[in-house]
Amino acid sequence: MAADFSGKTAIVTGSGTGIGAAIARRLAAAGANVTLADKDEPSAQAVCAEIIAAGGRAAACKVDICVPAQVQAMIGFARGRFGPAQIMINNAGLGSQQRFLETTLETLRTMLEVNVIGTFLCAQAAARDMIELGGGRIVNFSSHSGLLGSSGRTAYAASKGGVIAMTRVMAVELAPHGITVNAVAPGPIDVPRSRAQHNAERCDAWHRAVPLGRYGEPEEVAAAALFLASDDASYINGQKISVDGGFTAAGLRVKNI
Ligand SMILES: NC(=O)c1ccc[n+]([C@@H]2O[C@H](COP(=O)([O-])OP(=O)(O)OC[C@H]3O[C@@H](n4cnc5c(N)ncnc54)[C@H](O)[C@@H]3O)[C@@H](O)[C@H]2O)c1
Repeated sequence: MAADFSGKTAIVTGSGTGIGAAIARRLAAAGANVTLADKDEPSAQAVCAEIIAAGGRAAACKVDICVPAQVQAMIGFARGRFGPAQIMINNAGLGSQQRFLETTLETLRTMLEVNVIGTFLCAQAAARDMIELGGGRIVNFSSHSGLLGSSGRTAYAASKGGVIAMTRVMAVELAPHGITVNAVAPGPIDVPRSRAQHNAERCDAWHRAVPLGRYGEPEEVAAAALFLASDDASYINGQKISVDGGFTAAGLRVKNI
């Protein structure tokens, strides 16, 4: 039976498109009151309108997760609409492709700013509300690039590896407050951005590298995030779940037999 989120309040960052939008839709369909927060406010408003039209409860606001005052405003907005959030999904993130020797300090700083500092700010602000509530769930977003030496990913990998390390520490320190913190590490997912950025050759390479032979769907990542946010995951803390069709399990794919 799918988890019931009736009466729960959730914030999903980066929910104007891709994986975040799928998480917001799925949480609302399962009964949650969802705040959609995105730097791109019109996109978040559009997904929000779609959820409301389908009978869900949702509200949308603009946030740049790197700006502390905007993060506080997002937490306040969600609290004002639905009450303090028990679920914080730190999905907003940014990618980069630059080989190590060409990686600029600016790129590295941007990746750390959005993916590490943004996640840190949202998690910290949400955790303060959750402590008052007596518990909650935080789900952070890493990547297969935070686990493997994917070429061209120095800056992105540093940030997504940082998310996993930070997730473990948050999990340990927040556990006494009844808050669990886990991470999702997606593989290649078929979102509008990857569809625009991956040419035929790159798509082909991914199809060969992933044991399931295809990109994942945003809904398949959303399913893992909802599980970690649900009561069913009550004893899972400080972990990361890869949702990657077996990509990180396979390692170098040489067909020996
Ligand atoms: N799609 C993939 O193949 C894939 C693979 C591995 C990891 N991930 C991770 O999963 C998460 C979602 O990925 P996606 O592909 O759906 O992303 P996406 O690029 O399609 O969408 C990201 C959303 O986050 C928002 N955003 C970006 N910076 C922001 C900021 N500073 N403040 C607020 N909002 C901001 C964007 O406006 C956008 O709506 C990201 O953290 C990403 O790194 C994705």
